[in-house]
Amino acid sequence: MPTFKIFRYNPKSGGPAYFQTYELPEKKGMTVLDGLYHILENIDSTLAFRSSCRQGVCGSCAMHIGGQYRLACETQVVDIGNLVAIRPLSHMKIVRDLVVDLDPFFAKYTEIKPYLIPAGEPPVREFKQSPKERAKLDPYVDCILCAACYSSCPVAGTDEKYLGPQALLKALRYVADSRDGATGERLAYLASDFGAFRCHTIFNCQQVCPKELDPSSAIAKLKMKSLWAKFTGRMRQTG
Ligand code: SF4
Ligand code: F3S
Ligand code: FES
Repeated sequence: MPTFKIFRYNPKSGGPAYFQTYELPEKKGMTVLDGLYHILENIDSTLAFRSSCRQGVCGSCAMHIGGQYRLACETQVVDIGNLVAIRPLSHMKIVRDLVVDLDPFFAKYTEIKPYLIPAGEPPVREFKQSPKERAKLDPYVDCILCAACYSSCPVAGTDEKYLGPQALLKALRYVADSRDGATGERLAYLASDFGAFRCHTIFNCQQVCPKELDPSSAIAKLKMKSLWAKFTGRMRQTG
């Protein structure tokens, strides 16, 4: 019979945070999210958590489960064991229990301008791209904005200005896009103190991503591209 040990905290109550345990019935194929719904519907209706799609698409159910950040809807209880310890994402204010305020995470995503900036007037109809050009975006497009990588990164936890792994991975998605005309400005911004060079190559982000994306190697590419842009720019200036 699995036991869930869940972080509880209600900032409005003025009381301290604590862990609460719940005994769950054994059920074949039960995910951690199924377990949380079982508690909510049958044991304790005050438990707060986020979810939507229940199939690894919306990114809203990321939390710390059994020692690692994961999606609750994609984690089988049987893979964690009989004791399932759950706490919320890190580096963000707790709204209640397993729900955090994701505003700082999304603010960083907005900072990298996650949209195409064409060099001139955008085409009136299609903005064509060859299959080869499109394939260059494959390593970056599957991000579901779950914030698991952000929560796992110690630099994001200690430097509130650091853009973090998700925003930097997505920044490379636009730098790599043949239709984007703002590469120079993007790379200059990403090379600033709170950008790619603030990453200490800790690799937690790569380990936790539920979509098997690799923000750490995206950041390494951004560092190389930024240095190359700076170097070639200087070469051009000095003739
Ligand atoms: Fe989640 Fe991966 Fe996107 Fe990070 S890069 S937000 S871990 S999907
Ligand atoms: Fe953080 Fe990943 Fe860099 S964990 S320090 S963003 S390699
Ligand atoms: Fe949508 Fe888990 S509920 S990813």
